Amino acid sequence: MIIRNATILDIPDIVKIAERNFITPWTPHAVLESIHEKSVYVVVNSENAIIGYVIIYQGFDSIEIMNIAVEEKHKRRGVGKALLSFMIDNYSENNEIWLEVRDNNTPAIALYKGLGFENIGIRKGFYRDETPPRDALTMKYQKKD
Ligand SMILES: CC(C)(COP(=O)(O)OP(=O)(O)OC[C@H]1O[C@@H](n2cnc3c(N)ncnc32)[C@H](O)[C@@H]1OP(=O)(O)O)[C@@H](O)C(=O)NCCC(=O)NCCS
Repeated sequence: MIIRNATILDIPDIVKIAERNFITPWTPHAVLESIHEKSVYVVVNSENAIIGYVIIYQGFDSIEIMNIAVEEKHKRRGVGKALLSFMIDNYSENNEIWLEVRDNNTPAIALYKGLGFENIGIRKGFYRDETPPRDALTMKYQKKD
């Protein structure tokens, strides 16, 4: 399992995984913009296939996990954990790491809590692509001294 920066050639694979996992998946154009900002990472398996990705937003002293997903048949094999551990290893020294997650997304919440993310608050009705709109949990990872 290798984690590397995504290139524009990876966009179709990333979008395919996104479309299978999200009600409102990221568009190729939006992924492209994040690739230009070096804010997209992919996990590649031994057969050179992309099996997961993460998209971040890089702020001044914080980053936000904007989107993370793993290909269906590779779920529950440590791919998501590897991606987030990579983010923590590479970004948490100088940044807080923030994210929002749907309050019913049990797999993702378990993944984040297992890596030390803490629940900071709730954003009521944050996800408007569900009826009724769904609440988001705001979570933060901060490196402990
Ligand atoms: C959330 C997601 C990225 C996790 O990826 P993954 O590669 O399957 O997760 P991992 O195998 O690394 O799991 C790490 C830990 O997370 C938790 N976890 C992962 N999937 C879980 C599930 N279905 N149920 C309960 N806990 C789960 C477990 O604690 C797991 O550790 P364990 O396997 O030792 O018990 C994946 O389920 C996914 O793509 N979901 C759809 C997209 C999504 O919801 N993204 C998050 C948006 S905020």
